[in-house]
Amino acid sequence: MTHKAFVTGWPISHSKSPALHGFWLDRYGIDGTYEAIAVEAENFAEFLSGLKAHGFAGGNITIPHKETAHAMIQNLDPAATDIGAVNTIWFEAHVICGGNTDAYGFAANLDDFAPQWREGKRALVLGAGGAARAIVYAIREAGYEEIRIANRTYERAEKLAADFGDKCQPIKMSDVAGLQSDLDFVVNTTSVGMNGDEGKLPVDVQALPATTIVTDIVYTPLETPLLAAANNKGLRTVDGLGMLLHQAVPGFEKWFGFRPEVDRQLREHVLGLS
Ligand code: ATR
Repeated sequence: MTHKAFVTGWPISHSKSPALHGFWLDRYGIDGTYEAIAVEAENFAEFLSGLKAHGFAGGNITIPHKETAHAMIQNLDPAATDIGAVNTIWFEAHVICGGNTDAYGFAANLDDFAPQWREGKRALVLGAGGAARAIVYAIREAGYEEIRIANRTYERAEKLAADFGDKCQPIKMSDVAGLQSDLDFVVNTTSVGMNGDEGKLPVDVQALPATTIVTDIVYTPLETPLLAAANNKGLRTVDGLGMLLHQAVPGFEKWFGFRPEVDRQLREHVLGLS
């Protein structure tokens, strides 16, 4: 039997997920399909309820449906519950289940390239949007004692910190410069640096300890201005592409019954896409 999976969003044509999952289906010779399906917000509920009848094993949910899926699906994993968004769905005994693999993908990418990130105690998260929620979840799970959240719109940082508990504290962008000398870990979750975006981040890498790990979830370009500055200082850096690759692993395993590998060949395949 051919196992069928999908990614849905609006728009969806830019998604790299079909190429990513298609690469794995080919590599492992699996009888499966993974297609992009454009669904408008008003049709999402109907789409979700018809999945089983259409023979889907599950799929990925992306913008703008992640929060709607969280509201509609009863059986959620702990990450989806706390993050408030679903990016992966599957069926267990005919019951639809929702998960969020973004936090897993973020952590697995760091585990690959800078596993010592788990020993850190104090982190700075730049940004407080949807991506930041998954990342704060991952950093909290890694056992950090203090997670400082700085965002252009301070109220969003306050809300995110309040949602994720007493290890988190909102800080003003203008206070970042004075709160850097004890950081173990810095992550940019904003779109600053993406495709030449000229926005400015408040981090002064010169003021970071020599052991600080710096990562960015932006992967176009792979070396963002933040990572370039950190590399110049000789800090350990991790680019954002691996998060995209690793977040796809749990879904693929659930739908197709095989846990795929993230490796250099996959990275190059995805990097080669326009
Ligand atoms: P995502 O789901 O990808 O996180 P989002 O919810 O739109 O997307 O959040 C984008 C993040 O990038 C926000 O933290 C946003 O800051 P605001 O909450 O103040 O909008 C941040 N961001 C985007 N452009 C920025 C810029 N030029 N300077 C600083 N922060 C920026």
